[in-house]
Amino acid sequence: MTKKKTVLHIISSARENESYSKGLSLAIVDKLISRQEVDVVIERNLAKELPPFLHGNLIGAFYKDPRSVNEEERRLLEYADAVVNDVSNADILVLGTPMYNLGMSALLKAWIDQLVRVGVTYGFDENGMRKCNLNGKKVYLAIASGGKLEYWPKDYEFIASHVSAAFNAYVGATEVHTFRVEGTAMPGFQADYQKILESL
Ligand SMILES: Cc1cc2nc3c(=O)[nH]c(=O)nc-3n(C[C@H](O)[C@H](O)[C@H](O)COP(=O)(O)O)c2cc1C
Repeated sequence: MTKKKTVLHIISSARENESYSKGLSLAIVDKLISRQEVDVVIERNLAKELPPFLHGNLIGAFYKDPRSVNEEERRLLEYADAVVNDVSNADILVLGTPMYNLGMSALLKAWIDQLVRVGVTYGFDENGMRKCNLNGKKVYLAIASGGKLEYWPKDYEFIASHVSAAFNAYVGATEVHTFRVEGTAMPGFQADYQKILESL
């Protein structure tokens, strides 16, 4: 029997069904299902269940030996542990994000801050070289923006470069594929997800 493959679908728009990043990320998930690349979908809508922001006690717990965390630290670690669990169990990640002020959604950034942890998602070998622990996952990134990147100077691209670098450096996902639905705030805009995903 072939092993079932799991996709973890992260939604981070503050909007509900009118969200284009959610529309695009759902279209990616649907395409992966129709091609039988995944069988199980785990969906997390970060606007419905807000990721906590980092704070001192949680960071303290991140750096502690897991055997010596106290009850309060264990409680603080619950969300972060659940995120690590979700990502560990997934073969493919589909991350949807709106562009807000040229960056990713703060919800997605907060979720990444809960995921990335030294000693858990990455560590260092005996020569002090960084090595990742959750290697081999494919990431699809779906970005929605009111304008178009081509209207800005090239160095104004922050979302794909940031997400790719974080997943490369601290998780071990070397394949990050980005798709964009652009111009959503422009008059007469209509989303054509199938066209955007032609190369997928
Ligand atoms: C607070 C806020 C900031 C935004 N900043 C930008 C921006 O910097 N550049 C841009 O092209 N669009 C920007 N937009 C437009 C959104 O990217 C656009 O509405 C997009 O479709 C939102 O994603 P969603 O449809 O998944 O909610 C912004 C929208 C909001 C609400």
